[in-house]
Amino acid sequence: MPSLTIDGRRVELRGGETILAAARRAGIEIPTLCHVDGLPPSTSCFLCAVQVHGRPTLSPACAMPAADGMVVATDSEDIRASRKMALELVLSDHIGDCVAPCRATCPAGLDGPAFIACMARGEHRRAAEIVSEGLVLPASLGRICPRPCEAACRRRDLDGSLSIGALHRFCADRDLASGSPYVPAREGPTGRRVGIVGAGPAGLAAAYHLLVRGHAVEIFDAHALPGGMLRYGVPAFRLPREVLDGEIAVVRALGAELRMGLKLGRDVRLDDLRRDFHAVFVALGAQGSRGLGIPGEELALPAADLLERTAEGRPPELGGEVVVLGGGSVAMDSSRTAVRLGARSVVVFYRRSRREMPCLPAEVEAAEAEGVRVEPSVAPVRLERRGSGRLLLTYVRTEPGEPDASGRRRPVPVPGSETAIEATCVVAAVGQSVETDGVLDCDCLRPSGDGIAVDPRTLATSIEGVFAGGDAVTGPDLAVRAVGAGKLAAASIDQHLRGLKVVGDPGLLNVLMGRLDGAQFAALFPGAARSPQAAMPELVPGPRRASFDEVELGLAEAEAVRDAARCLGCGCARALDCRLRVEATRHGADLARFRGERRPPWRDATHPLVVYEPGKCILCGACVRAAEEAREPVGLSFTGRGFEPAVAPCLGAAMAEGLAAAAPRAAQVCPTGALALRSGARGGCRQG
Ligand SMILES: Cc1cc2nc3c(=O)[nH]c(=O)nc-3n(C[C@H](O)[C@H](O)[C@H](O)COP(=O)(O)OP(=O)(O)OC[C@H]3O[C@@H](n4cnc5c(N)ncnc54)[C@H](O)[C@@H]3O)c2cc1C
Ligand code: SF4
Ligand code: SF4
Ligand code: SF4
Ligand code: FES
Repeated sequence: MPSLTIDGRRVELRGGETILAAARRAGIEIPTLCHVDGLPPSTSCFLCAVQVHGRPTLSPACAMPAADGMVVATDSEDIRASRKMALELVLSDHIGDCVAPCRATCPAGLDGPAFIACMARGEHRRAAEIVSEGLVLPASLGRICPRPCEAACRRRDLDGSLSIGALHRFCADRDLASGSPYVPAREGPTGRRVGIVGAGPAGLAAAYHLLVRGHAVEIFDAHALPGGMLRYGVPAFRLPREVLDGEIAVVRALGAELRMGLKLGRDVRLDDLRRDFHAVFVALGAQGSRGLGIPGEELALPAADLLERTAEGRPPELGGEVVVLGGGSVAMDSSRTAVRLGARSVVVFYRRSRREMPCLPAEVEAAEAEGVRVEPSVAPVRLERRGSGRLLLTYVRTEPGEPDASGRRRPVPVPGSETAIEATCVVAAVGQSVETDGVLDCDCLRPSGDGIAVDPRTLATSIEGVFAGGDAVTGPDLAVRAVGAGKLAAASIDQHLRGLKVVGDPGLLNVLMGRLDGAQFAALFPGAARSPQAAMPELVPGPRRASFDEVELGLAEAEAVRDAARCLGCGCARALDCRLRVEATRHGADLARFRGERRPPWRDATHPLVVYEPGKCILCGACVRAAEEAREPVGLSFTGRGFEPAVAPCLGAAMAEGLAAAAPRAAQVCPTGALALRSGARGGCRQG
């Protein structure tokens, strides 16, 4: 019987078969892009390269006929390098967004276009479900997240981003107000138990995603109530406690057991948790307060104390003149809290320029609207108590000096600028630190930089079965990053509990277009008309100085739906099954290796069923062959728009004529999202 050998296995020969077909019949996988079963080969991608013994170069398995006695290798270092290079060449001028920019930049990966499309159609319940499954604490984060997604939103290339945070806040608020908030279904019980330390955003997010996967979860927390810094840090005028409580109730309803008032290192030990649970997630945040590093620093009130005591309803006595030192969100929250606690004058000193303040400009504007004076380029020198009991803060003006390790210019004192201010209270809001001393009884949980050392891909610590994330790892950071860390930890812990290799989030590689100029935007989104971003209604500054009522009031339904309708539905229709993306990820392709000049992005959306985007076209010709197979009267062929090769209907006809009957088949055989069914033709919500 004639045969060939593939990867050392004898495979019976069948007449007219290619190496690819013979290998597949034998269960040996060879990756392909341009190949389509049943259509003639085009050999344009060379991903299917194999080594045929006796041939000096690699051969395309999809076109090379199998022959008696042939010896073929489908995997070797050379073959892998060749395939990787083939993919990198294809990607060198690929232009498109695999996932929507908003989704790619949300640290928790919320699928913006999917929930926003539902909102635009008025399907608020479905939108709330998508939001809830993608983002734990969506109503809270919709209020306090600094919204990196909006900075990346494609709509900014036209007239301003969508109000993404306000939109998921709208969905989640409405869901909470419904009286029966969405609680996702859980997979069947796995019998595995996870102990979580810390009921802040990271711990709650990990709990949510572990519970959904069928594991049991117990959360231990030193405080009386859950929520972490969202409860004991962020003031109620930015995040009402009933909103936080409602969101935590969803995690409880899923089955989380919360054991409050138990401190790791005092009431429970890490070793106990390792014994009692199949895995442990340490998410104890950054609870320590950094000192000012000046003589008399002990006289300052740590911002964490001010905010925590206020949150607990027992605020400290501040007196009438308050100075806050720091320039981040904590400093702004402290100053605005001091205003509400009755201080007559509140001033914030920050040692660098206003532009360098780590908080959002909107936070400074809100504080100033409430009467806070913000003075940048001021550094404290010493703090003393006067005989009168008042404090005297000596400070200097600063100017930018040489760059420091972070690349920012170090503030240096302006000679002769020393001066002093009297105050009834000085609040130190210069940062928090991770407290591990006496808490983690095992010195193998090594600190690294600001927090606990982990493998950043998986959040695994050096101890088997123990993971860590959130501020405890990064140092003081953002709530949405803590929520993202909880989600990642849940994925890793789930893999660990199921005895799988722990890889964290096995996500796919992302191509992103970056900013578009006006002409490029118009070519990609020809129908988009200008429409302003929804603005958040607010309490007026006067009355809000006197109460802890929420300042940002939330979007009205009509405005939320109008803003949702502005969404461009970015992201590739084939994001999940694009063969180029899947293979590029699998082969570790480097997107930048052969980065050439990018093609001008445009799309042909004239066909009623499919959309063609030449920037994603790898010129494999599968659609051309599909049109030929269907005997399309006009059909498609390769063309060059100037120097830009693409496929186009023959004889300058419209796309609808070129693909009169074969459009669905052509979209199906396209290995990328270059030729894709319109979302209406695919059915369901758009996934970004
Ligand atoms: C004043 C302030 C304002 C902020 N504003 C914003 C904002 O506007 N936007 C934003 O995105 N982020 C903001 N943040 C940051 C955000 O709150 C944190 O990044 C986030 O809460 C970190 O989540 P986490 O779960 O890692 O830790 P945490 O929220 O700190 O939660 C840790 C939990 O662990 C518990 N714990 C600690 N030690 C132990 C122990 N030994 N045993 C048991 N339990 C323990 C704590 O009680 C706490 O509940 C702000 C923070 C502060 C302080
Ligand atoms: S959590 Fe933040 S980054 Fe993520 S979608 Fe919401 S506002 Fe955007
Ligand atoms: S236009 Fe819509 S899908 Fe595109 S980035 Fe903005 S919110 Fe996301
Ligand atoms: S549009 Fe046609 S030529 Fe371009 S990648 Fe898709 S199938 Fe290949
Ligand atoms: S050359 Fe064989 S699949 Fe492309």
